[in-house]
Amino acid sequence: MIHEQTLDTRRGRIRCLQAGAGWPVLLIHAFPLSAEMWRSQLERVPDGWRLIAPDTRGFGATPIGDAPLLSIDDYAADAQAVFDALEVESAVVGGLSMGGYVALALHRRAPELVTGLVLADTKAEADTAEGRGARRKMSELVRTKGMAALADSMLPKLLGDAAGRDLPLVAQVRRMIVGNTVEGTDRAIHAMLGRPDSTPNLAHLSVPVLVIVGAEDQLTPVAHSEAMERATGRSQLVVLPGAGHLSSLEAPEAFSIALANFLRSSL
Ligand code: MLT
Repeated sequence: MIHEQTLDTRRGRIRCLQAGAGWPVLLIHAFPLSAEMWRSQLERVPDGWRLIAPDTRGFGATPIGDAPLLSIDDYAADAQAVFDALEVESAVVGGLSMGGYVALALHRRAPELVTGLVLADTKAEADTAEGRGARRKMSELVRTKGMAALADSMLPKLLGDAAGRDLPLVAQVRRMIVGNTVEGTDRAIHAMLGRPDSTPNLAHLSVPVLVIVGAEDQLTPVAHSEAMERATGRSQLVVLPGAGHLSSLEAPEAFSIALANFLRSSL
């Protein structure tokens, strides 16, 4: 069963979905979605594990707060506040795409909290100059045309071929995107634009790492995942056939099996 809870943390209110009981796993969602994207994994929570999926600040039902600017480290500090509010001492931390940037930032800030990492459809590098230019254009699009226009421009790149033809799934992703605010989305665009390069940290990861990616991911293609796997010591790479960038939504069963196998092997 999935429980929804709004935590009163030292960094403000943070809504979380949770399922299961046992060793904790924190799952951080992609941009510009919400914790809702993890429902399939929460429904298949492996025995002996507790999955915790917060809405990142400014997304879903977590308020944006007062800070005029946000960094990826702010989102990581929020994740630390979730640990404290739930009295969790350490957890496997997983993130998909932007969630992966936050997971790497959390490990950089507080390695003692992280017993394993799941890096899904993400990359360790900072944005290139070209990537930063594309983010500025995206910021302008969302501020001038709103969330529906952002959904229109992102959807073809978020999903692989089969998922792109799966109209209920397309509608589900679109609902998650348009359910978010321009303000929260724009803060995240700038947070991603300014994020540091995590590549040098990969070689120092001493925890087990699952690198997982959709074979058809256009936004963070498989080559990024292969590079992360090569750069980390105790890692395994799983490529999900037929899935694009939102692999946990597009191949929910295969993703959940890979996660459960990894969690078992990480004990
Ligand atoms: C995401 O899915 O979180 C975004 O594609 C990440 C990014 O734009 O770098």
